[in-house]
Amino acid sequence: MVSSLVVSVTFTLSKTFHLDITIWFPSEFSAIRVLDLSYNNFSGDIPASFGRFPQLKVLKLVSNLFSGIVPSFLGNLSALRNLELGYNPFKEGPLPWQLGNLSKLETLYLSNANLIGSIPDSIGNLVSLKNLDLSSNYLSGEIPKSISGLKNVEQIELFNNNLQGELPESLGNLTSLLRMDLGQNNLTGKLPHTIGSLCLTSLRLNENLFYGEIPSSLALNPNLRHLALFINNFTGKLPQHLGLNSDLEDFDVSNNELTGELPKHLCQRKKLQSLVIFNNKFSGTLPAQFGECHSLTVISMENNELSGEVPSSFWIHPGFETLKMQYNRFSGSISNSISNAKRLAKLQLQGNNFSGMLPIGICELDRLMKFDVSKNLLTGEVPACITRLKKLEFLRLQENMFTGPIPSNFSFWHELTELNLSYNQFSGTIPSQLSYLPDLTYLDLSMNSLTGNVPPELVNLELSEFNAYGNKLYGEVPYVFSNPVFLSGLRGNPGLCSPVIKEFPPCPKQRPYSLIAVIIFAACFLIFMGSVLWFLKRKFIFFNGKSYKPSYKTTNFQIVGFSEEDIVPFLTRENLIGSGSSGQVYKVNLKNGEFVAAKKLWGGTRKLDTESVFKSEIEILGRIRHANIVKLLFSCSADDDLMVLVYEYMEKGSLGDVLHVNKCEELREWSTRFNIAVGAAQGLAYLHHDCVPPILHRDVKSNNILLDQDFSPYVADFGLAKTLKHEEGGIGAMSRIAGSYGYIAPEYGYTLKVTEKGDVYSFGVVLMELITGKRPNDPSLGDNMDIVKWITETAFSSAEDHPIDVAHIIDPMLNLGICDYEEIENVLNVALLCTTSFPMNRPSMRRVVELLKEHKLARHN
Ligand SMILES: *[C@@H]1O[C@H](CO)[C@@H](O)[C@H](O)[C@H]1NC(C)=O
Ligand SMILES: *[C@@H]1O[C@H](CO)[C@@H](O)[C@H](O)[C@H]1NC(C)=O
Ligand SMILES: *[C@@H]1O[C@H](CO)[C@@H](O)[C@H](O)[C@H]1NC(C)=O
Repeated sequence: MVSSLVVSVTFTLSKTFHLDITIWFPSEFSAIRVLDLSYNNFSGDIPASFGRFPQLKVLKLVSNLFSGIVPSFLGNLSALRNLELGYNPFKEGPLPWQLGNLSKLETLYLSNANLIGSIPDSIGNLVSLKNLDLSSNYLSGEIPKSISGLKNVEQIELFNNNLQGELPESLGNLTSLLRMDLGQNNLTGKLPHTIGSLCLTSLRLNENLFYGEIPSSLALNPNLRHLALFINNFTGKLPQHLGLNSDLEDFDVSNNELTGELPKHLCQRKKLQSLVIFNNKFSGTLPAQFGECHSLTVISMENNELSGEVPSSFWIHPGFETLKMQYNRFSGSISNSISNAKRLAKLQLQGNNFSGMLPIGICELDRLMKFDVSKNLLTGEVPACITRLKKLEFLRLQENMFTGPIPSNFSFWHELTELNLSYNQFSGTIPSQLSYLPDLTYLDLSMNSLTGNVPPELVNLELSEFNAYGNKLYGEVPYVFSNPVFLSGLRGNPGLCSPVIKEFPPCPKQRPYSLIAVIIFAACFLIFMGSVLWFLKRKFIFFNGKSYKPSYKTTNFQIVGFSEEDIVPFLTRENLIGSGSSGQVYKVNLKNGEFVAAKKLWGGTRKLDTESVFKSEIEILGRIRHANIVKLLFSCSADDDLMVLVYEYMEKGSLGDVLHVNKCEELREWSTRFNIAVGAAQGLAYLHHDCVPPILHRDVKSNNILLDQDFSPYVADFGLAKTLKHEEGGIGAMSRIAGSYGYIAPEYGYTLKVTEKGDVYSFGVVLMELITGKRPNDPSLGDNMDIVKWITETAFSSAEDHPIDVAHIIDPMLNLGICDYEEIENVLNVALLCTTSFPMNRPSMRRVVELLKEHKLARHN
């Protein structure tokens, strides 16, 4: 005969296991003492045969699939010490009153057991009970007064039921009680005074309907460590001695109607870790004692009426992880000592009266994720080092009086999703580096004094909200901003204009009158000053033998036989041969009789752009050499804004001019056009595939392909070109939308991730120009048409089995031979490939060269 049996079975059956458990445990097992079948998938009723195990001391069926009711015969198992049936899908039913007969029961665990009805009075008979857990059921009714019979009870868990009524006074008799959780019920009334005579370490009455004052007797309990009274209707002051007599660790009275000052002693024992008092009406200042409470990790005191200066010692808490003080009336400055709160992840101070500067110590809070100081009276510049906070996700500085520029070195802000700087006095330009923030979703710069152009790079961001309303931005809105997310955010900047986006006034072709007046005046002034200087210079030479010379910075990229003196004085009207987006081009005759082209970059308001163009040209063109890329010979810049780039002179000018303006005779020959296509393709292929790192031109167009006297093509104008640097995140991460209307690949409408396939697209457009003789946005193409759409539609309108009908689209100016048609068709096919809307499907430039040449060979063999 088995006298004692411990069963602990773990079946690992994938299906619900229907077991007639009585077969396993027949009534002959009457001597069984411990039966533990927890954490299996037993289902059905709890077998009635269990009722015939009179010696059973432990019955554990936790977490099975028993689906009958909790049987009353369990009340017969008079030897039971542990009855643990929690986490079973029992049929809804009451807690059997018969269980009250289990006078030896120490643990009754029936959490999550679908119990309904009220707690039977008989519960009070469980004189041996230490642990009562009926949490997370549907128990209703009042807590029976008889509960005072649980003389030995240490823990009562009744949370998450529907219990009602007031707490019985008799609770005070439970002198062994250490932990009580009655949270998440509908309990009401005032807390009985007797609650103070309990030796509780943990009292949780959260989420009920209690009201009245929190009894001061609570503060006398020497064991109290955890107190949760949140979400009730408590009023009045907190007991002033709270924390004085016990090691208070967690304190949560949030969401009540408490008033008065915070008790001074809350952290008397230096054990307090979380102080949660938000959504009350506490007033007065922060007790100075809080400054020494280094155990604190969480403070949440938002939405109160606390006021006064925050003692500088308060900020020092090295363990702070969360500090929420928003929407109070705190004043004074935020002390630099906050730099000691190294673990701080959330710092929310918005809606107070904090003043002074943002302390530089902020920058040392490496873990900061959420930082909000909006709606205060903060002034001065935001410390630039704030961009070192690499965990930052939210930065909200709006509605202060911050001045100075927006910090711009964002290399560490990888996580930032929201940046709100609105309603301040930030000045300077919008840093284009914002486009490097990979996760930025909300960007609000509205109502500041920002100036300059809209950085086109911003299009690179995948923003849900962009707002730069009410600034002083000016200049042309980049074409790619047609996305409504951006457009609407650019309103309220009267200086913005656009030739294409209807929302904005067109950009003035002529400078406004007043500006002209200013320029004329400035010019006169300069001439006057110039003559004075000249005069002085002459005098100096006369008297001192020394000559005045502005300081030029020059670089030679080739061995050249000239210097700035041979160039700068000749940048005059009569030598002007062209004018482009980046500057004016002059033809300069050198002493040796040769010509060079000198480009003088625009100065003045366009200076920022100009500098980057200048740098870009020098950095890129200065180091590459290719037969189809224009040669930069020399650069020179002077203090006074002058920036000059000197190139080989290209006799025939740009392809754009030759093709569309001059209608040059030589271009009647298809072979001339074809050679230009192949040469330019080779130049671009060299940039993409032979340069390390690769270079993207980003402004490929017929105007940027120059022709020498033999009509050999040279890719020029690298002002927008970029080197693809891999440390910047591979292909797309660097970006600046570039290019000219009509040549920009469609994907730049929704992204600014720039790849070489953007150049391929633009080159395809150039091929189409060569074939048709039309400009990419030629008015003859009709409204809303560009050359790519037009060709695609015209070419494919012919029957499917028929080869593309090119005759309609070929430039009528061309003198064509029989073989030319076939070659034009081939080039057209390449052009169509290059302008496929899906970038992936476009060939590489190297492949384009191959495709073009293959055919050429075929023709000549
Ligand atoms: C119980 O059943 C569930 C669902 O079928 C299954 O995921 C789990 O592994 C089973 N547990 C045991 C102990 O067999
Ligand atoms: C169980 O308790 C009730 C009173 O609560 C009593 O009348 C009854 O006799 C008890 N039964 C047993 C078997 O002890
Ligand atoms: C930024 O702050 C302003 C002013 O407080 C507010 O109106 C706006 O909604 C905020 N922007 C975002 C994106 O949250």
